Amino acid sequence: MTVVQTLGQFIIEKQKDFPYAKGELSRLLRDIGIAAKIVNREVNKAGLVDILGEIGSVNTHGESQKKLDVFANEQFISALTSGGECCIVVSEENDDPIFIDNEISRDAKYIVAIDPLDGSSNIDVNVAVGTIFSIYRRKSGGSCATIEDAFQKGTEQVAAGYVVYGSSAMLVYTTGKGVNGFTLDPSIGEFCLSHPEMRIPKDGYIYSINEGNYINFPDGVKKYIKYCQVNDPSTHRPYSSRYIGSMVADLHRNIIKGGIFIYPTTAAAPKGKLRLVYECNPMAFIIEQAGGRATDGFERILEKDVNSLHQRSAIFLGSENMVVKAEEMMRDYSPEVGKVVDIKKAAGA
Ligand code: AHG
Ligand code: MN
Ligand code: MN
Repeated sequence: MTVVQTLGQFIIEKQKDFPYAKGELSRLLRDIGIAAKIVNREVNKAGLVDILGEIGSVNTHGESQKKLDVFANEQFISALTSGGECCIVVSEENDDPIFIDNEISRDAKYIVAIDPLDGSSNIDVNVAVGTIFSIYRRKSGGSCATIEDAFQKGTEQVAAGYVVYGSSAMLVYTTGKGVNGFTLDPSIGEFCLSHPEMRIPKDGYIYSINEGNYINFPDGVKKYIKYCQVNDPSTHRPYSSRYIGSMVADLHRNIIKGGIFIYPTTAAAPKGKLRLVYECNPMAFIIEQAGGRATDGFERILEKDVNSLHQRSAIFLGSENMVVKAEEMMRDYSPEVGKVVDIKKAAGA
């Protein structure tokens, strides 16, 4: 008989890897898993919105219909507020960090950064969307958390994960000891271990980038795209182009099959589009833990300074050899994009 291991069982089992763990992180991960199941239920119903009532209108139960990203944000914040293990939430949907100021959370140990619904442009068209989360330990010693607790580098993450709401829902996470994936079995309502110890192939044959922005890409990215398209059977080129437009879904596929995901700086978005704290850092942590590589074309994502909680970054991540090749092109053809990094390094920063 096949023994199914649920996310809850797995988390408790893994707690033994951390000798001084008191179970707070386990409870936090469990709370995120529960909120993810509720969000998944709503994502599954999204296509019924025309029947149940338009967004913004009042449904037959007298409840107003919410946009899914707002709904997802509320679910995660509410799970984290009542869980008692998290003192600050940084969310894409809130300009300011949320200090959870109740009896049980005020002196809690953890900070959570979250993109509650990633790929929101895909909601209306039945295409996979996701959630991304990142967990930090509180550094301040007093009884209440401080704003500095939210400004930690990606290297300080104690856990990170994503949920992909796809043809099935999956939760994938790391606590810095590899990456494990769990698929939701709707018949029992549990995430079950389906992808133990996920590893991204060192070489991949898929590149994921919004090529519609080609004209505005740095030369290094243009050269890399052309490299991907060259006919060279010995290196499996031309590579396939796959771009869903939900970072979670694009990366999930690339982790399993091998590939590179790039969201570079563009003329319209000179600092990149994706957010460092709740998109790039957690994904970079997961990719590195799966054996891949994540940079902004020059510098490791996880080592970037956090100056603003909503700051943007360019990102190149996925199969190690692909990312290294793309970085080579950036160095050779777009050194001006990396200039800022070099100036900082020269200053010893
Ligand atoms: P979000 O829905 O959280 O705002 O994130 C969307 C992000 C990411 O998921 C995706 O890879 C990227 O934006 C798509 O951007 P383009 O439409 O510019 O390609
Ligand atoms: Mn996003
Ligand atoms: Mn989002």
